[in-house]
Amino acid sequence: MDERTTDIAEESICGRDGLLYAPHPSNARVLDLGCGTGIWAVDVANKYPEAFVIGVDLAEIQPFNRPQNCDFYAPRDFEDRWALGEDHWDVIHMQMGCGSVSSWPSLYRRVFMHLRPGGWFEQVEIDFTPRCEDGSLVHTSMHKWYQWFQEAMEMSWRPIGHSVKATVSILENQGYSGDLVRFGASVNALTTILKEDINPRDAMTISLISEYKPLFQSSDKEWALKAEIIIHQHLCYHEGKAHGGILAFLLDHMFADCCALMDRNRRAVTADLKLSYIRPVSPNLPTSFHVWVAKVEGRKIQMAGTVSLIDRELGEVVAVKAEALFIFLATS
Ligand SMILES: C[S@@+](CC[C@H](N)C(=O)[O-])C[C@H]1O[C@@H](n2cnc3c(N)ncnc32)[C@H](O)[C@@H]1O
Repeated sequence: MDERTTDIAEESICGRDGLLYAPHPSNARVLDLGCGTGIWAVDVANKYPEAFVIGVDLAEIQPFNRPQNCDFYAPRDFEDRWALGEDHWDVIHMQMGCGSVSSWPSLYRRVFMHLRPGGWFEQVEIDFTPRCEDGSLVHTSMHKWYQWFQEAMEMSWRPIGHSVKATVSILENQGYSGDLVRFGASVNALTTILKEDINPRDAMTISLISEYKPLFQSSDKEWALKAEIIIHQHLCYHEGKAHGGILAFLLDHMFADCCALMDRNRRAVTADLKLSYIRPVSPNLPTSFHVWVAKVEGRKIQMAGTVSLIDRELGEVVAVKAEALFIFLATS
């Protein structure tokens, strides 16, 4: 990818509002491994003026004109010896590192050693495997090309593929603990496919899902998605009140994405969707959507969700409760 394409890809993965997901102090020391053009590091430095951000990369392609609280070390190999000080970083970030790393266990160990106690490592990856909902890509040249590309990357000891399960297991073996928050790369890809399928004149749908940047969480017990979404007033029926149908659309969309995360190879459809509107949701303010899988029985997926907002007096309150039944379609 050229530099501009990388920047566009970065915007579509992280979103301009959701630069840093890891909790961090305002004066955080942040390290970006394989920073590429440096756009993420510069944006974080601008957004958090008290923070200090360093990007490292093999290629010296970062801008000279950078914020004072941002610096770049390039050319520098993050698989070579680090002389950046242990216990040094509040957040270490890596975005699109797959295809660049010969030993993930060593890199994760090194990252672990250089985080201050309680610090965070966050990694954002894309699953590039070409897929299509109806499976029609399977015998195409694109599919074949991707297989060869994968083989070539493996032969160069830097696999391009990414597996959430394998990553979590390596992270756990290297001593990481607590909430292992994983970014929904597959969800973002899914949403992107959906966006491409939309008729460009359908401004309402585009406007609705353009705010949708889900954060995927899972543990042995639960599959869940969280997203902060702004519902714009121009899509609402009443002034100052988010349209109930829009909230239902977004929750239904998130339920479907949550099912896709559980099993990408099967399609799930809505069989039942119930919403209780407890209090009005204001448009033009970030609103928290949270959906999770409550129970799976054969092809049936029982799900639940909430829409929450911040009330000045009460703090975080639930404005909408949702329950859904999704069904995995039978495979022929
Ligand atoms: C796919 S790009 C991602 C760039 C950036 N993180 C982004 O999301 O736009 C991967 C970057 O990692 C850099 N890279 C690959 N191997 C590296 C290494 N061993 N040490 C430092 N940088 C490396 C490449 O030069 C490239 O800029």
